[in-house]
Amino acid sequence: MEALVVENLKKTYPGGEEAVKGVSIKVDKKEFVGLIGLSGSGKSTVLRCINRLVEPDSGKVFLDGVEITSLGKKQLKRARRDMGMIFQEFNLVERLTVIQNILSGRLGYTSWWRSVLRKFPESDVGRAVEISEVVGMRPYLYKRADELSGGQRQRVGIARALIQDPKLLLVDEPTSSLDPAIGHDVMNEFHQISKELGVPVLISIHDVNLALEYSDRIVAMRDGLVVSEGRADEFDKRRLGEVYRYKI
Ligand SMILES: Nc1ncnc2c1ncn2[C@@H]1O[C@H](COP(=O)(O)OP(=O)(O)O)[C@@H](O)[C@H]1O
Ligand SMILES: [Mg+2]
Repeated sequence: MEALVVENLKKTYPGGEEAVKGVSIKVDKKEFVGLIGLSGSGKSTVLRCINRLVEPDSGKVFLDGVEITSLGKKQLKRARRDMGMIFQEFNLVERLTVIQNILSGRLGYTSWWRSVLRKFPESDVGRAVEISEVVGMRPYLYKRADELSGGQRQRVGIARALIQDPKLLLVDEPTSSLDPAIGHDVMNEFHQISKELGVPVLISIHDVNLALEYSDRIVAMRDGLVVSEGRADEFDKRRLGEVYRYKI
């Protein structure tokens, strides 16, 4: 069964840029889908429309059968907990420790006074420690975010998304600011998350080789449209050429 269904999504930005022109994507449970395409092809816009950080003009998004695109503000806030989003720019709170940053993933579940005081239930703290182990950050729990390397910061971002107990992970260019070796580690991490924790992953990624190596399936975009899709192991040079050929 599909966890995520995106149907005919369209988005034109206020400036007139037609960024997404009717995109449909399905992601199964446990599936790892790589979204590839040139810069400007609309990958980030698709990811942001799925959790409505960017409001789509039309089209539908379903997560586990719930139509995200028809939810009111309050319901949307609740539904967003189910969608862990991991951005390129990590978005950590620099002066907070690793464990505090991980715990901030629970803010959507915590009463306002707890979040003001950053007082999390014991169970959340226990879970944060467990998850830090999953992403290999257990030894650094009390380091401040501003003392971490790029790869470590990315792992904290992953842990913070995982502690939400998401039904889906949306990941935008996780490796673009990392050196290549660490890029592999991070992709491996996501692969394990999809297979072992059973969380489907939709990941936009610039590096085609990484995408092909770690994805189950590839969805390729060009100029706001899906131009090719299929199993990663069937994605050959010719198809890549079509995706990446120069714009006229
Ligand atoms: N906030 C925005 N306002 C106006 N145009 C935007 C905005 N974000 C992206 N775009 C434009 O939409 C198109 C698709 O961008 P984007 O979704 O970021 O593509 P990708 O992630 O594949 O690089 C680009 O032409 C980009 O310039
Ligand atoms: Mg992008």
